[in-house]
Amino acid sequence: MKNLVVLTGAGMSAESGISTFRDAGGLWEQYPVEQVATPEGYAVNPELVVRFYNERRRQLLSVKPNRGHELLVGLEDHYHVTVITQNVDNLHERAGSSNVIHLHGELTKVTSSRQPNNPVYIKELKPKNYEVQMGDLAGDGSQLRPFIVWFGEAVPMIETAIDYAEKADLFLIIGTSLNVYPAAGLLNYVPAHVPVYLIDPKEVAIASGRPVHVIRKGASEGMEEFVNLVCRPQV
Ligand code: OAD
Repeated sequence: MKNLVVLTGAGMSAESGISTFRDAGGLWEQYPVEQVATPEGYAVNPELVVRFYNERRRQLLSVKPNRGHELLVGLEDHYHVTVITQNVDNLHERAGSSNVIHLHGELTKVTSSRQPNNPVYIKELKPKNYEVQMGDLAGDGSQLRPFIVWFGEAVPMIETAIDYAEKADLFLIIGTSLNVYPAAGLLNYVPAHVPVYLIDPKEVAIASGRPVHVIRKGASEGMEEFVNLVCRPQV
């Protein structure tokens, strides 16, 4: 089977009811990013940050995967599919995707404030324990913090993601403005002969200037079109 590598962003989850970051009314318009998504913001007001991610986690309980997520799972019958997501929700997993790499962390996990990437301290929360309180401690005695990669922090999963991008036979981008690096640079590792598709209802600037087959649609409709293009024999 050929390797289909998919890079997803907030637009993938938009039709499930999770707002994107940079569209009008997006999350960064409602919450100052420097307060809730940087180590500096966390140092100044950890309570606010813990509360912000509790809210994001609570939202997971009321949303479900959309048709776009499901169609991606269906492609596993035809391709070896690897999903590299910038999303911190768990909708790809809940839809049934087998191989999901989270570049920016996972809402359902918490970790040590002192050593956030030490696997010993990373803990999966059960839905009934989604509310983290100030005073809840990691194994090293530090405050439990969200297992989220904040701006200015290292992105440990990028090396794994690059390995997959380099081995792609087909590369698909869904619902990301490609504003945030290193995720936005992954396309540079996709070999030049590999076809690249992009699903997004808005225009997205591709820095590399390489040819991209653009499907100017939302994730669900765009995925229908993509599946028809890559799984049905052309007549
Ligand atoms: P953005 O909010 O920057 O971009 C969302 C993209 O989704 C835009 O290109 C929209 O046009 C597109 N979009 C909107 N509705 C859509 C739909 N129904 N179907 C498909 N696409 C749609 O979000 P990201 O690019 O994911 O990082 O942002 C990258 C990172 O920046 C996030 O992971 C987050 C954020 O700050 C951290 O929190 C560390």
